[in-house]
Amino acid sequence: MRITMIGTGYVGLVSGVCFADFGHDVICVDKSASKIEALERGEIPIYEPGLDALLARNVAANRLGFTMNTAEAVKGADAVFIAVGTPTRRGDGHADLSYVYAAAEELAELIDEDTVVVVKSTVPVGTNAAVRDRIAAKLKEIGRDIRFHVASNPEFLREGAAIEDFMRPDRVVVGVETDHARDVMAEVYRPLKLRDSPVMFTTLASAEMIKYAANAFLATKITFINEVADLCEKVNADVQEVARGVGLDGRIGPKFLHAGPGYGGSCFPKDTLALARIGQDYASPMRIVETVIDVNDRRKRSMVDKVLDLCDGNVSGKTITVLGVTFKPNTDDMRESPSLTIVPALVGAGAKVRVVDPEGRKEGEALLPGVEWVEDAYEAAEGATALVLLTEWNEFRALDLERMATAMETPRMADLRNVYSPDALQAAGFSAVLVGRDPVSAPAARLIKSA
Ligand code: UDX
Repeated sequence: MRITMIGTGYVGLVSGVCFADFGHDVICVDKSASKIEALERGEIPIYEPGLDALLARNVAANRLGFTMNTAEAVKGADAVFIAVGTPTRRGDGHADLSYVYAAAEELAELIDEDTVVVVKSTVPVGTNAAVRDRIAAKLKEIGRDIRFHVASNPEFLREGAAIEDFMRPDRVVVGVETDHARDVMAEVYRPLKLRDSPVMFTTLASAEMIKYAANAFLATKITFINEVADLCEKVNADVQEVARGVGLDGRIGPKFLHAGPGYGGSCFPKDTLALARIGQDYASPMRIVETVIDVNDRRKRSMVDKVLDLCDGNVSGKTITVLGVTFKPNTDDMRESPSLTIVPALVGAGAKVRVVDPEGRKEGEALLPGVEWVEDAYEAAEGATALVLLTEWNEFRALDLERMATAMETPRMADLRNVYSPDALQAAGFSAVLVGRDPVSAPAARLIKSA
């Protein structure tokens, strides 16, 4: 198959590279000259484990190329994927579809007979049909008489595990209207069939709805366990135990039941907001989703109170060391990260905030003004009043707690990802607040430190 990928953002780049690895001929297009030049040099604009090696391998095998020239890239393509951004529109919370529509209309002038135009960006219900209508209208306007097809192919990959998710997905969802589109898409994903990943064909609207419903459900699951965690703290239950016991029910499942500081990232916040807006537009309100959005926003703010409580209500002039600022590990992505709420609030309360993050500095420097960036967690702990563990990077999972405690002014930790067991924290002399678990108090250790 010859595949063109319009847009080299997260989804576009990972999909393009992986399709090439399936053995297809892939050309990735982007309007940004600096992006294309960097990709041609083998430089990747995002941090995603394994992507650079996979890209290099497929470029070397002549299956993968990059260009700014859409006309050249689209010529002879069996399928053209649109994977451009759909940011939240300022003001009304709707997904901004202007990039998707602009790409579709440009394609009307360039595609060959029977090309399948595939929308991979996450788009509201009805967008694929609108893409079809806009291409048809443009063709008419410019007097071209060719047959084309539209397919909806939402992407479910997670950042940080993108290649594994793309290569071994739980399922692939494809919305189509014609047999030809179905045949082409079946061929595009044929390598996955051999790996037993089901490819599900459905209508355009259902495919669009599946993506929103899946993300909103996962966001709801996380938010649910987060609220359960708050209650656990009040009733002396342990959310880790509760989540395990609940997750053992096969109907519920153990995944996405990890309580934390609130979900972030490029998808859940944007897609829950978009789904709530769609529900309002159709007078079919998504009340659960609306509540999830609200509860998650408040949660990020309430984490600040947790840190303040740990520090006896006052962080002014004190050094607070934040471990991890990206919205999750194995990514450099800061979008909607809880750190964007928590860190500025600590700075605002007068704390001297030190930040350690293996990949977050590049994006984080501009987003988190007034903090000090430190490379090493032990160095960052020196003289600190408290540690705030915000992102569960591997290098923060196995810290030598005693060494950290010795370096600090007072060994306190807000472990907002429940990485450390209360016993381990106590043994190392920490007083600590966790999520949905009893706090750890180590007054003796604190007395010794301040004596
Ligand atoms: C998500 C979906 O998983 C993916 O299918 C979709 O295509 C894009 O959105 P991603 O945003 O990359 O992927 O990250 P994910 O691993 O799902 O985590 C999202 C957020 O939820 C993170 O902030 C993470 O820390 C949080 N989370 C996740 C929890 O707080 N608890 C959990 O149990 C799981």
